[in-house]
Amino acid sequence: MAHFIPHNLRIILKQKTIYSCQQCGMQSPKWLGKCSDCGQWNSLVEETVTVAKKGGRTVPLRSESSPVRLSEVSATDEDRLHCGIAEFDRVLGGGVVPGSFTLIGGDPGIGKSTLLLQAAGSWARIGPVLYATAEESTRQVKLRAGRLDVVAEDLYLLAETSLEGILERVKELKPAFLVIDSIQTVFTAALESAPGSVSQVRECAGRLMHLAKGEDIPTFIVGHVTKDGSIAGPRMLEHMVDTVLYFEGDAGHPYRILRAVKNRFGSTNEIGVFEMKDIGLSEVPNPSELFLAERPEDAAGSVVVPSIEGTRPILVEIQALVSGTAHGNPRRTAMGIDSNRVSLLVAVLEKKVGYSLLAQDIFVNVAGGVRISEPAVDLGVVAALASSHLNRPVDERTVLFGEVGLTGEVRAVSRPEMRVNEAARLGFNCCLLPAGNLKSLDQPEGMKLIGVSSAAEALEFLFN
Ligand code: TYD
Ligand code: MG
Repeated sequence: MAHFIPHNLRIILKQKTIYSCQQCGMQSPKWLGKCSDCGQWNSLVEETVTVAKKGGRTVPLRSESSPVRLSEVSATDEDRLHCGIAEFDRVLGGGVVPGSFTLIGGDPGIGKSTLLLQAAGSWARIGPVLYATAEESTRQVKLRAGRLDVVAEDLYLLAETSLEGILERVKELKPAFLVIDSIQTVFTAALESAPGSVSQVRECAGRLMHLAKGEDIPTFIVGHVTKDGSIAGPRMLEHMVDTVLYFEGDAGHPYRILRAVKNRFGSTNEIGVFEMKDIGLSEVPNPSELFLAERPEDAAGSVVVPSIEGTRPILVEIQALVSGTAHGNPRRTAMGIDSNRVSLLVAVLEKKVGYSLLAQDIFVNVAGGVRISEPAVDLGVVAALASSHLNRPVDERTVLFGEVGLTGEVRAVSRPEMRVNEAARLGFNCCLLPAGNLKSLDQPEGMKLIGVSSAAEALEFLFN
């Protein structure tokens, strides 16, 4: 109700004090000890907001936009700006869209600043780039740039934590790209709360978005992720921005994955794969080869699955270890894959295939620190579990995919030909796949396709 202001109404703007939860963003007119939305104690902080009030003696509102025919709107994919880092461009949906507002989230130390500095170096060939560093000094950034071999005449560094200061410099410099590293360390003087608080993050992001849209400056903001996995200054940032990219990876592995979780200009779940080296991030154009590089030969419990991430097939190794438990409570641990899914597949193996796994510790891991979320890997998990349980390796040139249902049936999945072709390209010669997918496929050269309709049938083929 309050959001809709009819044209004939006059409004005045008024400063008002509200209390806002620093955890979930809930707003209340009164202070509360416990947030009524998320239940967090002591999380409400006073904030001033500007509200519109009915009546008064100010200017009548007039809308500035008018309807345009869809066919008359000028926007093509050719407007996109390419940074020259192909993996980055692809995750964005094929380059940077003018005026787009992108959030890059990730754990501290994962490489967000490194990635953006490298990208900024390339963008500087298109036009001036302003890199506002609120966390590090220009000297620190310069040292890093030296290591990364970033030399760009048109890359401007600005060590500034005040949002107003940054906005002023943007007005002077009129950059073609703007990077804010990070949104949690910039603050606006309009609010009294500390930098990094929900209200500061929201206000700063809101004003930066206004700038990005108004001046058509593509803007990238870095956001650190809190321990519970949400971007600090919670989810409200995610729905404000056009694109949310997560930079993820395991501290123990050199691989980093840039994943689009929201994209108004392209497909989500597109990934870009990088390797962190001592000269910065380098692209990995053939991730399948990388993820299979250390695959053990003839080992029970290891299988290869062609998974699709975004638009690209990637072969990953799934490992399982099934071993007798020493204590009463068997352990079920899954890494890189949903543990509920694994529990379900273990139950299917128990009930539909007849394995006895109740007194077994079960570990499942996706090698290389990758995270897989599509159900097409189910059959691979089942085969890895069975292989470890029976202590019999799966033929090392066999791959398999398919979704496994609760009755043990194997269901068809999307884009089977892409998966099969990627496996064939890397020298695999046999593929078990859902019978329902087999009909629509041409047999690639040197690859045997075996359609299966149940998990039991697949295991029968692999181990008998
Ligand atoms: P950084 O980009 O500072 O992370 P974030 O901005 O996400 O906090 O990355 C820091 C890590 O990356 C640091 O632990 C060292 C590593 N690193 C390299 O291995 N090679 C390099 O060339 C650079 C610049 C960083
Ligand atoms: Mg950083």
